[in-house]
Amino acid sequence: MMEFKYEIEGGDFSKAGTASSDVKKILKQLNLAPGLIKKIAVAMYEAEVNIVAHAYKGTMSVIINAENVRMLFEDEGPGIADIDKAMQEGFSTASEEVRQQGFGAGMGLSNIKKNSDYLSINSTVGKGTIVEIITNIK
Ligand SMILES: Nc1ncnc2c1ncn2[C@@H]1O[C@H](COP(=O)(O)OP(=O)(O)OP(=O)(O)O)[C@@H](O)[C@H]1O
Ligand SMILES: [Mg+2]
Repeated sequence: MMEFKYEIEGGDFSKAGTASSDVKKILKQLNLAPGLIKKIAVAMYEAEVNIVAHAYKGTMSVIINAENVRMLFEDEGPGIADIDKAMQEGFSTASEEVRQQGFGAGMGLSNIKKNSDYLSINSTVGKGTIVEIITNIK
């Protein structure tokens, strides 16, 4: 088993995606099937960018074992009032600033759902959000 943890800063788009690309490199070194690496990388990237775009700060923990890759994102931020609505394609509360960075199509969470085997979102408005993603690798 291996575990990696990264700090993610809200609002800093210059660093958005760096934690995900670091983990992607590790998955390549582990010789995971390219299709699986792609799936994990897409889901991980969307969840990482969501912290940058919507929260103040957070952490990403990745646990790799023989069966699966588990990604845990915990942030301090506004939280999500209606998770079912947030899951809908096209729904976004992204600010003008975030849209200018090319994000805010409202596709991230549905993309995570499509590219994972398990997704759980727990959120407290005014406090923050916890997103757990699991992808099976065997
Ligand atoms: N970590 C988070 N903290 C607070 N709100 C979030 C978080 N992640 C998602 N949301 C809410 O859920 C909505 C939908 O998220 P989703 O990732 O699907 O789209 P988006 O981030 O707005 O746009 P895109 O991902 O296509 O760039 C967001 O607009 C935001 O309102
Ligand atoms: Mg998003």
